[in-house]
Amino acid sequence: MPDRNSPIGIFDSGLGGLTVAREVFQLLPSEDVVYFGDVGRTPYGGRSKEIITQFTRQDISFLVEQGVKVVVAACNTASALALDTLTSEFMIETIGVIEPGAISAAGATKNGNIGVIGTAGTIHSNAYARALERIDAKLRVFSMACPLFVPLVEEGYVDKRATYLIAEEYLAPFKNNGIDTLILGCTHYPLLKPIIRQVLGETVQLIDSARETARVVAQRLAASSQLNPKGTDGERKFYVSDVPDQFAQTARHFLGDTVRNAMRIDITKY
Ligand code: DGL
Repeated sequence: MPDRNSPIGIFDSGLGGLTVAREVFQLLPSEDVVYFGDVGRTPYGGRSKEIITQFTRQDISFLVEQGVKVVVAACNTASALALDTLTSEFMIETIGVIEPGAISAAGATKNGNIGVIGTAGTIHSNAYARALERIDAKLRVFSMACPLFVPLVEEGYVDKRATYLIAEEYLAPFKNNGIDTLILGCTHYPLLKPIIRQVLGETVQLIDSARETARVVAQRLAASSQLNPKGTDGERKFYVSDVPDQFAQTARHFLGDTVRNAMRIDITKY
């Protein structure tokens, strides 16, 4: 049975969840962490609910087998489409990124108009809109799928003119609906903050669920007396479902640090 000395498990469809891992490392430096990136099957964003649920089930099973004490679904698409179904299948606590992002946005908005951007899967699931409605039914939510953002970030196009033009196109409706807060509802989008700010201006607050998710993880572990008591630096292990080279090279854009020890596993066995 996992106990407070056990690691925290974090998974994503690939690299993007490292933005959440980064916040967890900062907030909970003495926790051991096992990260799984499903790079062999990424992206999840345009896939069906059935496939995403099947992949997510395997991602969680792998982490459970590593003996983790909690699982963080650091992927908006998996959190939006699969987590409700899967939470009851596993004995372990699972934390997604939707609720934390919605709580942050609801706390940040002054005029009640909130924009949400994400993958097609996340936006069509309406998971953010439902989470925001549960918090405050008076909030007005405007959503937009931005499917080209993920490949652009993966290619390192975070400050290119082409990305700016695509962002202008996607975000144009938000210039007219009076939003004062925008949820970056995809793990990759925090890397596009400068371009999104250029397009929407400084008055729109950008909400990145990574930090809030890490806070929720810390709160839940504290509430159940599961925080690791050792005062030393936590151990970090990275697993991927394809050759780790590309993951290791690109990881620093998301993590702000290099990953040296990523190991390949066969996720289809789980
Ligand atoms: N991690 C995914 C998300 O946050 C983005 C990448 C993908 O489509 O798999 O929605």
